[in-house]
This record gives sequence, structure tokens and C-alpha cells, in this order.
Amino acid sequence: MSPAGPHEGAVPRGSIVACPDGPLLVRGDVPVVDDRGNPVEKHRATVALCRCGASAIKPWCDGSHKAIGFEAP
Ligand code: FES
Repeated sequence: MSPAGPHEGAVPRGSIVACPDGPLLVRGDVPVVDDRGNPVEKHRATVALCRCGASAIKPWCDGSHKAIGFEAP
């Protein structure tokens, strides 16, 4: 039997998932802050952060990654 890790049994409060060739999906209780640490209001329970650099509404994804052919795992 292995010893329990610090997060064993913990219920995740949120998650960040990288979409293939697309944004980072932020779900649940994960704060988004700007470069000064100020909270950025999330308008939904799940939001998409741009990681291609082409969005006109950063930090949010506006779908531009498709038009530029962004590729990432
Ligand atoms: S990841 Fe969607 S616009 Fe950049």
C-alpha cells in the first residue's frame, strides 16, 4: 500500500484543459487574473482562454485559431 498523497481524496475545484489546436478551457473555481493580479471577470462557468495569440478579445478565445491554422497538442 502506498502512502496517501497530499491531494488524495480531494475533490477538484476546477480544471484547465488544452483543446487540441485551440484554446485552454477553464472550468469551475479557477480564478483568472491579469498581469497585475487583478481578477478578470469570467462570464460563464467555463471560459476559453486564447493560446494562439490571434484573438481580438484576449484573454478570451474568439475562434480565430481556426482561421490561422493554429496547431498545438
Ligand atoms: S485560441 Fe482561439 S482565438 Fe486563439
